[in-house]
Amino acid sequence: MQSTNHHPFTEGLLTWYHQHARELPWRQTRDPYAIWLSEVVLQQTRVAQGLPYYLKLLEVFPTIESLAHADESVLFRHWQGLGYYSRARNLHKTAKLVVSEYQGQFPSTYEALIQLPGVGPYTAAAIASFAFGEAKPVVDGNVFRILARYFGIETDILHSSARKEFTDVALELIPKDQPAEFNQAIMDFGSLQCSPAPLCASCPLSLTCIAFQQKRIQDFPVKQKKAKQRNRYFNYFILEQGNKMLVRERKGKDIWSGLWEFYLLESSQEEELESLVELDKILPKFLHDAVIQPLKSPKIHLLSHQKIHCKAWHVQVPDNLDISHVEDFQWIGPEDFEKLGKSVLLLNLITDNLHLEIFNDSMPR
Ligand code: ADE
Repeated sequence: MQSTNHHPFTEGLLTWYHQHARELPWRQTRDPYAIWLSEVVLQQTRVAQGLPYYLKLLEVFPTIESLAHADESVLFRHWQGLGYYSRARNLHKTAKLVVSEYQGQFPSTYEALIQLPGVGPYTAAAIASFAFGEAKPVVDGNVFRILARYFGIETDILHSSARKEFTDVALELIPKDQPAEFNQAIMDFGSLQCSPAPLCASCPLSLTCIAFQQKRIQDFPVKQKKAKQRNRYFNYFILEQGNKMLVRERKGKDIWSGLWEFYLLESSQEEELESLVELDKILPKFLHDAVIQPLKSPKIHLLSHQKIHCKAWHVQVPDNLDISHVEDFQWIGPEDFEKLGKSVLLLNLITDNLHLEIFNDSMPR
């Protein structure tokens, strides 16, 4: 029975599905256990590769009780090749939980299903709609792509608000009288028709598809390009004289503004100590008769768009060397330095070098 007040998208999708539906074994059942099993397998792999695993798992563990009572190693053996064993472990855990807490009966609502270990919004919607006829839409990358194209949705699908927005659209579209068909249909439509390289010429929805009509298929879904990571090379010198070190507060728009640090030379690529000294105007003043010791340093410090490569040295400046004032920097003792704010990189650097006398007793451990 077809209702006439479906959205044109829904109407077109269901008509398409009646002609193109794939015959898949998990579509012949309303057993939530079998449906759940199929969905967990399909999170791991594509339909063609997942099919034999699903059939075998169902043969070896025909009921949730048989899975719950199975030895984990037996499950792992049949899971072999699917990868990501924590999914198999969760499968086992959930089976045991459903047997012990729910007398072997899967909970029958989306809200209860999503509480189960390893069951996220997609799997909960799949089980709730396929097994229990609840009108909850499945929303994954395929659904983002289809809806973004058809409705011309410009929201960045990586944005934290995207899932809710697309789910709300899908909720408007999913028919209350045939939610399972709608969800199965959108899965097949995403795989076979509105795939990443879509077959628009034969698509029954193209007349009302915004992306197609505006010839902007490639613009959807909107997915912000990952900002390129910038590599930076920080060379820290812990210059020490008479139990004081040369430090400064970082200023301006760069990272860690307002935090304190040791004498820093930033280079455009990885440099050895000799070339750094050569490149710098100030450092040579301190190196006369100084004892220089390479330090252990956190080699790479990751920020959201920057990769900081770090090297560090300790320079013990002889007491008799008359050191001049260095612009922006000041000499302070460890007790005072401890009170100042520092980046995590610097704290890690200090922690890695607590053997240095200057860090003794006054630095966080
Ligand atoms: N991918 C995830 N679940 C699926 C299902 N039930 N049918 C086809 N493909 C799927």
